[in-house]
Parts: sequence; structure tokens; C-alpha cells
Amino acid sequence: MSRRIIPLTDVSAVPVFSGPAHAPRGELRDTLSRPLRDLRISVTDRCNFRCVYCMPRSVFDKDYPFLPHSALLTFEEIERVARLFVAQGVEKIRLTGGEPLLRKNIEFLIERLASLTTPDGRPLDLTLTTNGSLLARKAQSLKDAGLKRVTVSLDALDDTLFRTMNDADFAVDDVLHGIDVAQSIGLAPVKVNMVVKRGTNDSEILPMARHFKGSGAVLRFIEYMDVGTSNGWNMAEVLPSAQVVARIGAQFPLVPLEPHSAAETAQRWGYADGSGELGVISSVTRAFCGTCTRARLSTEGKVYLCLFASNGHDLRTLLRNGSSDDEIATAIAHIWEARADRYSQLRGSARTQAEAAERRVEMSYIGG
Ligand code: GTP
Ligand code: 5AD
Ligand code: SF4
Ligand code: SF4
Repeated sequence: MSRRIIPLTDVSAVPVFSGPAHAPRGELRDTLSRPLRDLRISVTDRCNFRCVYCMPRSVFDKDYPFLPHSALLTFEEIERVARLFVAQGVEKIRLTGGEPLLRKNIEFLIERLASLTTPDGRPLDLTLTTNGSLLARKAQSLKDAGLKRVTVSLDALDDTLFRTMNDADFAVDDVLHGIDVAQSIGLAPVKVNMVVKRGTNDSEILPMARHFKGSGAVLRFIEYMDVGTSNGWNMAEVLPSAQVVARIGAQFPLVPLEPHSAAETAQRWGYADGSGELGVISSVTRAFCGTCTRARLSTEGKVYLCLFASNGHDLRTLLRNGSSDDEIATAIAHIWEARADRYSQLRGSARTQAEAAERRVEMSYIGG
């Protein structure tokens, strides 16, 4: 695998380090004063798609060493960790994968997580990111279990291109049907995430915008990122979000919208005719590390402090060696308080690249 050095001159906007999200006194803060607010839990490292930018088939083949079942945290263990994170400030939990709907009886986990509340008694924002292939048949049971909303990944409307990108021959109509079912039963707002690869699917930007405009679903365009070490990323394939907004705005006038919260990943744009909104997630050209309040729990119980981290902090040993809740809570606090990660802001530095390129974890392992 070749090393990928990104010259700073390729990054079309200087990353912004805006202030940390608001946190009352006494709450956990990392070394950059960022509070802990979001926990993203990966429930499986497996997926039924082989998206070219995430799990290229040449790497994730039949010999790929996916985690054995015994390595996975059980639902009881995940619930315990989640409860301890919530006690320390987490307000939003997202289940990810791989493909989270492949985890057997995921509804049982959702039921447990839906019963958690913040220390002042508020329910959590409980959501899930899926590729949509199993959504139509699972949406009702997910909703019944207490899931609030879903985010569906969809990279193209053109069926041939979609099948090429998922590299598993899944039809676009099945995903669109899943989105419709999720919307109709109120797993809303449904968000649709499109990773844009220049030269591969940027021709789908306008068709996707047209399709979802006025539908109630919020389409978000994600800059293709250098996650993991297997997708052969290069800057030439990144289409800066500013260009996405310009292309859509030329067809459908757009107005900027205020963020819902300081820690939001997406910048919001509204259609000037009032027919809804879209978002752009610009991790490459406009890093948002300054307000990053996200911790990630891997399928095997390691806490990662950044999407681009090389190492996780093992909690599974504590969960399985008789440690008390207090001991695990203390470990979580120490892990967060030592956090200094801000990879996207440092991406241009050759040292960061050299250090990270060989070791960072794959997106399918840590979730998006
Ligand atoms: P909402 O709560 O619905 O706004 O979700 P979200 O944007 O926080 O999460 P989602 O899983 O929808 O994120 C969409 C994409 O944004 C992911 O697939 C990643 O590509 C990217 N992303 C999310 N969180 C981070 C992050 O912390 N760092 C970076 N660099 N990218 C992120
Ligand atoms: N760059 C940006 N987003 C990615 N995802 C996976 N790989 C990448 C990448 N290289 C996103 C997918 C999906 C989520 C699981 O992660 O779009 O929404
Ligand atoms: Fe699977 Fe999502 Fe990765 Fe595609 S992006 S291979 S659907 S985990
Ligand atoms: Fe957070 Fe790391 Fe993403 Fe920056 S690169 S926003 S620190 S996960």
C-alpha cells in the first residue's frame, strides 16, 4: 500500500477551529476542552456490501479475518458501557457497523438502549446508520424497539452505477423502498448519506438532489475521506463540498441554514423555495475537529477517540474481569480527559500522514 501525502495546497479551505461545544462546569472535557456528547457503537465489522471506498472486495475477501463471535461485546456488555457513557454526558447514540442490521436480534439491543435517559431525565437521540438493504423488512421492528430515526447510505440513483459502487449487486430500488418505509412509519427525519467520489459518482449529485428535494428526507453529501488503509484514497477524487453546493445552487437556489448544534457534522442548506434542506459534510476541506464530541466503541469493546485513530482503549477486559461500574466509569473519564485527537485538522502534515497511514483502523471496523 503506497503512502498518501496530502499537500496542504490541495485543501481548498483552511480548516476552522471554532470553539468547543457548550458544556456546563464539572463535566468531562478533553485536552482541547471538548465535552463528551456522542457515542457511536459498532455492532458488527461485517457488511453485505463491498463499497469500493470502504470495503474493497480485493481486501475484504473470503479470507479476511473478521472478528469471531466470542470477541464481540454482548448486548448486556454494550448496554452497560452505554449507560456509563450516558452518565458522563453522552446524549446521542448511533449504532453503526459494518452493517448494523446484520447483527442478530439488534432490536433487543435497541430496546435496552432506548430505556436509558440522561442524568436529568431526557431520552437519548437513538439512531442507526444502515446501507438500507434490510431496512424495508426491519423498519417496523426497529421502530417498535424504540429507535428514533435512521440514516441510510446511498451513493447513486442510477442502478448500474449503484451496483458497481456497492460491488455486491444490490439494486437501488430496494434501498429506496427501505427509505420510503422508514419515512412512512416515522423513523424520521430520515437522512440519506452520499459519499461523493469525483469521477465516479459526482454525476449523481443533481439527480440525487432532485429526487430527495421535497421528499422530507435530508440528503447529505460527504467528502470522500482517507479512512483506513485499503481504499487507495487520493485527493484528486475528493470533490470539495463548496462545488457540490455550487452545482446544486445553480439549478435550485439555496440559502444557508443555522446549525442545529455546535457539534453537527453537516453544514445545512435550505432550498429557497421552501422544499426542504440538504447538508454537506466537509471533513477534508473544512475540518470540524474543534467541536468533535464523538467517541466510538468498536465491536470488540475498544474506545476510539477519533475516526482516524490507530489504537483503541480496551474496555472489554474490564467488562469481563469483574471490574465495578465505578472502575469502568473512571477508566472512561481518564480516556476522554487525555484526548487530543484532531486528525482532520492535521491532515496536511506529512508527519501525521506518515504516522497514520500504516496503522489506522478501517471504517467498516469502527463505523462511519
Ligand atoms: P446526525 O446526528 O444525523 O447529524 O449524524 P452525524 O452526521 O453525526 O452522523 P453520520 O453517521 O450520519 O455521519 C455521516 C458521515 O460523516 C459519516 O459517515 C462520516 O463519513 C462523517 N463523519 C461523522 N462523524 C465524523 C467525525 O467525527 N469525523 C469525521 N472526519 N467524519 C465524520
Ligand atoms: N469517506 C467518507 N465516508 C465514508 N463512509 C464509508 N467510507 C467512507 C469514506 N472513505 C461512510 C458511508 C456510510 C458510513 C457507514 O460511512 O457513506 O454512510
Ligand atoms: Fe458496508 Fe457501509 Fe462500508 Fe458500504 S460504506 S461497505 S454499506 S459499511
Ligand atoms: Fe473528530 Fe477525529 Fe473526525 Fe476530527 S477527524 S472530527 S477529531 S473523529
